[in-house]
Amino acid sequence: MQSVTTSQDGEILVLSVNNPPVNALSWHVRQGISDGIEQGLKDDSVKAIVIRCEGQTFIAGADITEFGKPPQGPDFNAVLNTIETATKPVIAAIHGTALGGGLETTLVCHYRIAVPSAMLGVPEVKLGLLPGAGGTQRLPRLVGIEQAAVMTSLGEPISAQKALDTGLIDKLAGEDSLAADAVAFARECVAKGPRHTRDLPVKGDTSIIAKLEAENARKWKGFDAPYANLRCVAAAAENPNIEDGLKFERAEFVKLMSGSQSAAQRYMFFAERQAAKIDGLPKDTKLRDIKKVGVIGAGTMGGGITMNFLQKGIPVTIVEMVQENLDRGVGVIRKNYEASAAKGRYTSEQVEKMMGLLTPSLNLEDLADCDLVIEAVYESMDVKKEVFGKLDKICKQGAILASNTSYLDVNEIAASTSRPQDVLGMHFFSPANVMKLLEVVRGDKTADDVLATAMAIGKKIGKIAVVAGVCHGFIGNRMLSQRQIPANALLMEGASPEQIDNVFTDFGFPMGPFQMADLAGMDIGWHRDTSLEPTNVREAMCLAGRFGQKNGKGFYDYDEKRNRTPSPEALAIIEDFRSRSNMQKREISDQEIIERCLYPMVNEGYLILEEGKAQRASDIDVVWIYGYGWPVYRGGPMFWGDLEGAKKIVESLERQGVKVAESLKAKAA
Ligand code: 3HC
Repeated sequence: MQSVTTSQDGEILVLSVNNPPVNALSWHVRQGISDGIEQGLKDDSVKAIVIRCEGQTFIAGADITEFGKPPQGPDFNAVLNTIETATKPVIAAIHGTALGGGLETTLVCHYRIAVPSAMLGVPEVKLGLLPGAGGTQRLPRLVGIEQAAVMTSLGEPISAQKALDTGLIDKLAGEDSLAADAVAFARECVAKGPRHTRDLPVKGDTSIIAKLEAENARKWKGFDAPYANLRCVAAAAENPNIEDGLKFERAEFVKLMSGSQSAAQRYMFFAERQAAKIDGLPKDTKLRDIKKVGVIGAGTMGGGITMNFLQKGIPVTIVEMVQENLDRGVGVIRKNYEASAAKGRYTSEQVEKMMGLLTPSLNLEDLADCDLVIEAVYESMDVKKEVFGKLDKICKQGAILASNTSYLDVNEIAASTSRPQDVLGMHFFSPANVMKLLEVVRGDKTADDVLATAMAIGKKIGKIAVVAGVCHGFIGNRMLSQRQIPANALLMEGASPEQIDNVFTDFGFPMGPFQMADLAGMDIGWHRDTSLEPTNVREAMCLAGRFGQKNGKGFYDYDEKRNRTPSPEALAIIEDFRSRSNMQKREISDQEIIERCLYPMVNEGYLILEEGKAQRASDIDVVWIYGYGWPVYRGGPMFWGDLEGAKKIVESLERQGVKVAESLKAKAA
């Protein structure tokens, strides 16, 4: 199959790109476009050339799979130059998404036409890159500095209408008549001749750049690419000669492309897509129909889970045991939606529509007609087994019964029903309406179509779903405990909560382990018996009434705005506990904190893989990035572990006395 074909409609030559699934600019596409333009220029009967695409979309960017490999075929910039310098008008006909190198291709075309549903953007920043084929220099010449700065640094595409309003495209086509409309538009362009984006003056001023940096300071902390994009847009404003700006852009692009951040972000792009694939399951596995969902428990988790479905128009019956708790839970859901509406995310009609899909109930029997029931009750095996035993009797045949347990044995829960094939874990992360991760826990007897349906419904509600096997804590929490144990030990050996947390935030996590403990509440799982001697620092904190953010004091003191400051009282409690444990305080380096807390996590990842509890290393990385805030520019623990080097990790783990996974040892050998 040729990836670029040509056809002629009167004096218009049409180049059709056909490179499924997204018409990426693979080397043969670049070659085909270049040849097609040359053909049109040589042929006197051709007066203008249209570039269009077959399939679901216009060119969605460079072929990311080619990055880092030896170059093949014509250089992309040379192809763009061929288009830009063509002596006959070249028109881009856009449908679907024109992204990255795809949009850059349209920028060197002389005219652009798009269907109303098309989206146009430069998402390179999400891959740790910038539109490095002139995008940062040509975009400001068409849409102005402000719009270009927003588009390049945030990477969000804009609609065709907005593209028309801002000057990015020249004309809207009919939704179903792009081919004909593009040819007709090309005929109009013949008389006008080629028009070059590069010759346009740069409009607007650069004050937006400081504003964007200030607004996004938190979100962009640690990232290189957003700032590099903005530097390039500023260079467009500063350099009237585009060649100077292009040179600057090239240098910035090369820096990003050769750095570890972009390598990590590109890896995550594919990891995220890979996670959706279930090994050994046919792609066409028939899914169960999920029209109605039941949620048991209207607490923080149950409420958050419920919101995901209501937002997608799926009715939910939410069940609690006590009226007061039910009312409180429903009230929180409403309050959350109203807060989003106040920020402009929903209209009040949409809020009412979503709330109208919610049926509060005190009766489990009301779940009889649900296609999927998710249990989010107290984390106790006895309670869960009782609930599932009842669901077995109440729910219709074929309903999927899911537990939101974060640690417990899904096989044991399944065994409390007569239909273990319909049972699995759907582990959401708090706040469940915000966090992207969903661990789908496959029990020994979970049916293939139940697993596939849970993964699909996860995608439908906007989650990134990852398959996990049954083990204590599944993928995420199992690895988390390997971090928590050394973090507590380091505290005893002399590090302060602040030193440890700062190492984590400098690494790129949104918070460290002790900030996280304060946020979650120190008293979770505490026995509350004040007559007992504390057996760990956490219990000592609870005994002193330091429960975390909820009462303004935990490992830190908090003000009304929840800003943390080191707490002399907390430090004294730690000191006291340390001396009672007869431990000597010593200086601890930041590097030791990294090695002691993060290397055992990497090791646990290898053990998880050895035991078949995760399908692939990249799934583990997806879990940590979307569930626990591991910085995406470091690629997740497994990717990062490879960068650190298996040998270095194994040597450190052996010094620490940690039992090393055989597969990690083998990698280090
Ligand atoms: N290169 C190679 N493969 C790509 C690709 C790309 N640019 N974009 C998507 N794919 C692959 C995906 O990996 C996936 O493969 P799989 O089926 O084997 O898993 C397949 O195409 C379909 O992709 P999605 O599952 O993401 O399909 P959707 O329909 O949900 O989304 C899309 C389509 C909006 C185009 C989305 O794929 C996307 O955002 N792609 C990336 C766009 C991008 O980042 N472009 C910039 C690239 S960098 C660049 O152009 C540099 C230049 O400035 C020099």
